[in-house]
Amino acid sequence: MPQDDLLELAMKHNFWTWSMQQCPSVINVKKSQGVYFWDQDDKRYLDFNSMVMCVNIGHGNQHVKQAMIDQINELPFVGPHMVSKPKALLGEKLASITPPGLDHFLYTLGGSDANENAIKIARDYTGKVKILTRYRSYHGATMGAMALTGDRRRLHWEPAVMPGVVHFLDPFRYRSVFFKGRGLVPDSVYTQAYLDNLEEVIRFEGPQKIAAILLEPITGTNGIIIPPEGYMKGVREICDHHNILMIFDEVMTGFGRTGKMFASEHWGVKPDIFTMAKGLTSGYAPLGAVAMKRDIFDFFKDKTFFGGMTYTGHPVSCAAAIANIEVIQQEKLVENSATRGETLKQLLQEIKAKHPCVGDVRSIGLFGVIELVRDGLTREPFTEPDKPLKAIMARVKDEIIKHGVFLYNTFHMILIIPPLIITDDQLREGFAVIDRALDLADADIKQG
Ligand SMILES: Cc1ncc(COP(=O)(O)O)c(C=O)c1O
Repeated sequence: MPQDDLLELAMKHNFWTWSMQQCPSVINVKKSQGVYFWDQDDKRYLDFNSMVMCVNIGHGNQHVKQAMIDQINELPFVGPHMVSKPKALLGEKLASITPPGLDHFLYTLGGSDANENAIKIARDYTGKVKILTRYRSYHGATMGAMALTGDRRRLHWEPAVMPGVVHFLDPFRYRSVFFKGRGLVPDSVYTQAYLDNLEEVIRFEGPQKIAAILLEPITGTNGIIIPPEGYMKGVREICDHHNILMIFDEVMTGFGRTGKMFASEHWGVKPDIFTMAKGLTSGYAPLGAVAMKRDIFDFFKDKTFFGGMTYTGHPVSCAAAIANIEVIQQEKLVENSATRGETLKQLLQEIKAKHPCVGDVRSIGLFGVIELVRDGLTREPFTEPDKPLKAIMARVKDEIIKHGVFLYNTFHMILIIPPLIITDDQLREGFAVIDRALDLADADIKQG
């Protein structure tokens, strides 16, 4: 079928969601392999976004595909109340890679409902209702997960989202309002200011009312914000002091993305619960999970957990997850993420040194961002979070995609989230295209 006919047909009966509606150019994908995918015209794209930040092991992996085929042949479906081999084996496999003590799992369909279920669990377990999350955060698109989300994506539905969520400020150094214009503040002072602020929020909200604090350990689509030294340890101490559960949303950061299997390992801080999805199957099948500590698991042994859906623990998804983790381990992809992450860091620094439009770059493992500004001193972003995508930002992104590098931007931030199998040469290949496209942004600044 010709490309145009296929596009027309795709648009005719299907209801498309925000990520597609806000996408300036639609790509009609035909096939994918490794770090690349191809459209219907056989144009090749280097995947700098792992499609939707999830294809950690790369596209078209034969081991995962075969595991899914075998599972479909053996047993394509069982009910959520039935035992199956892949579900049993996945629990064991996950327990072997999650931080010690966080080795009991509830399966979900993806990241949003993993967070929703984490909240249900925390509320039941603590008998408290309020949840604290940060403003610069995204936790999913269902109504509960939207309520947890701090960024402007929540605003569309407000106030009709799940009640009981309170947001607080995140320690984002580049755009911190606390120390604006006061020079370089040492990490310890900076960290303490944000922890004090959190304490203050808890005091006013009432610790006896707060079930949990839920955080992305490293903020994803809101700009790869890496917490300062001591911050996560401080949040853990605050949680312990007030008898509040700590929940990490590792939906994007899990499974090697940041150079560790899970991002919590960077600080040796253990949450009580954490959620995962995306890299759990590398997108080969829909699956999420909630990991919890033993006490919480035991709490529900004689209490009904009011949750679960028809496809909870779907055997094909569980089989895909097991094979996916095997690939991550056998191909040493966590290690590759850390090593290639050093190359990514260097390439980001080179881009920053060269282009006046680059205000800041940040990365950890293969999780990076380029922040575009109009003015390096005022840090005025190319486009504000509450304004439509400025034409120049769309042109920069289009230019990159036109030259065969697929990536994602949140407003003025370009995210770099490639498959963990990427090589140094492939990273350089992508950065050469980004480098040229940023000349457009530089020229736009010059024109004023
Ligand atoms: C940090 C984080 N949490 C939750 C979600 C929601 O996951 P899903 O789209 O699988 O529902 C996402 C999706 O991008 C995410 O990045």
